[in-house]
Amino acid sequence: MKQTSYSRGQNQFHFIKKERLFNLTNISSFLFYSTCLAILFTLYLFLNSYPKNTKYTSNIQESNQTKTFIQPKIDREKCDLFKGKWIQDDRGSVYTNYSCKTIPFKTNCFLHGRKDTDFLQWRWKPEQCELPRFRPEQFFSTFQGKTMAFIGDSIARNQMESLLCLLSTVEIPKSVYKDAEDRFTTWEFQNHNFTLMALWSQFLVVANERIINGTSTGGFDLHLDKVNTNWSDKLPSIDYAVFSDAHWFFRQNYLYERGHLIGCVYCQAPNVTDLGPSFAIKRAFETAFKEINNCKNCKKIFTLLRTFSPSHFEGGAWNNGGGCNRTLPIGEEEVNKGGSDWDYRKIQVEEIDIARSLGEGSGNIFEILDVTEIMLMRPDGHPGLYWGNRWMKGYSDCIHWCLPGPIDTWNELLLETIKRRDI
Ligand SMILES: *[C@@H]1O[C@H](CO)[C@@H](O)[C@H](O)[C@H]1NC(C)=O
Ligand SMILES: *[C@@H]1O[C@H](CO)[C@@H](O)[C@H](O)[C@H]1NC(C)=O
Ligand SMILES: *[C@@H]1O[C@H](CO)[C@@H](O)[C@H](O)[C@H]1NC(C)=O
Ligand SMILES: *[C@@H]1O[C@H](CO)[C@@H](O)[C@H](O)[C@H]1NC(C)=O
Ligand SMILES: *[C@@H]1O[C@H](CO)[C@@H](O)[C@H](O)[C@H]1NC(C)=O
Ligand SMILES: *[C@@H]1O[C@H](CO)[C@@H](O)[C@H](O)[C@H]1NC(C)=O
Ligand SMILES: *[C@@H]1O[C@H](CO)[C@@H](O)[C@H](O)[C@H]1NC(C)=O
Repeated sequence: MKQTSYSRGQNQFHFIKKERLFNLTNISSFLFYSTCLAILFTLYLFLNSYPKNTKYTSNIQESNQTKTFIQPKIDREKCDLFKGKWIQDDRGSVYTNYSCKTIPFKTNCFLHGRKDTDFLQWRWKPEQCELPRFRPEQFFSTFQGKTMAFIGDSIARNQMESLLCLLSTVEIPKSVYKDAEDRFTTWEFQNHNFTLMALWSQFLVVANERIINGTSTGGFDLHLDKVNTNWSDKLPSIDYAVFSDAHWFFRQNYLYERGHLIGCVYCQAPNVTDLGPSFAIKRAFETAFKEINNCKNCKKIFTLLRTFSPSHFEGGAWNNGGGCNRTLPIGEEEVNKGGSDWDYRKIQVEEIDIARSLGEGSGNIFEILDVTEIMLMRPDGHPGLYWGNRWMKGYSDCIHWCLPGPIDTWNELLLETIKRRDI
């Protein structure tokens, strides 16, 4: 591509020269200029054929992608990957629960009896360009020698597990580390020298469960200014960090800064201010990104924030009969962009922008994986009743995402977002 525009520049130069040439009347110079013309003409032929050859040799395997190849620059400038719609695509998923051996029990929806498969026949179409279908070889060549970590709650883990499946079509990963509770896990793709981690941290900051009279309350004491070292200790080995978190912030949590109680979320205590989940989410991401920007023994880190992943309970909340049994996406016009889902996303977008303005000078990169609106359109992508709920029969999971399923698109967006910045 670079070669082609270079040659076009040269050709323009050539024509300008030629025009000037014909305005000259000095006959004695004629021989000199005609020699020049001959040289330029030869140059013209050479430059014209040279880029054509490189184009064919370097892209011979990509003949089906000619359209995206010819105009990548234009696409990248104006194309917002996260603005678009779901369109039907009968190619389906690149993996199945047979080809991928690592699908967890709870998100293996087909194992638990989900029958409809239409929800796999959609692809995300950004308005101004195409989102390339996931190609493991391209992923591996982009991330050779690198370590990528998904840091957050079980939905962060959900995305990591989707990526494991997408990559398994080319190389079977090897599990090299797993803690007793299976909350911290490391996989290696040894043939491609790529390491993938999941680091559990449902708040990113220090959090201690509130236990009153020996009974856990389900709520936490959150120290919003103290980073959780369970993930931050790993930062020096990480090249790409994908952060996400939100759902645990909706519990009855108490909020601390500098060791002092400053407020709570939904606590209904008479003398404690309810600061709301948005406040806590904002401060937690701020603390996490500060840690990255202040890390002395880290490499340059490419940080992504995956925005709020909406749940889709209908007909009630999770614990009073709510479920999600749709089998088709909904249209953009049906999506509610005024609700709290949208507020959480907005706060996350603001925080990544702040981190970028503080950190890009020192070589860190901060980008967003803005999946909120994309997934608001996919109420059909959750396990619903099909998650092997032996102890909670009748309860639906409308928070996590089936594998395979629309969550696989997050990793297509991840690869494309990184490729755009990381060349
Ligand atoms: C291009 O794609 C079409 C449909 O996806 C397929 O039928 C065709 O074989 C492809 N051609 C090449 C050269 O890969
Ligand atoms: C895969 O899904 C099918 C239904 O499509 C199911 O019958 C089977 O048990 C699943 N197998 C595994 C290994 O998950
Ligand atoms: C794998 O990548 C690491 C980090 O870039 C590098 O130090 C190491 O030599 C690579 N190993 C192989 C076998 O290529
Ligand atoms: C770190 O992980 C360990 C083991 O899972 C856990 O007991 C501990 O509470 C975690 N620390 C924080 C600050 O969350
Ligand atoms: C804890 O136990 C004490 C003594 O049994 C009781 O007075 C108190 O109300 C309990 N606190 C809560 C929050 O239940
Ligand atoms: C709230 O007020 C009561 C009574 O004044 C006091 O005992 C309690 O410690 C206070 N709670 C907090 C969290 O400050
Ligand atoms: C889907 O769920 C709704 C309530 O959310 C219920 O009224 C409807 O009967 C369900 N449909 C099926 C096919 O189960």
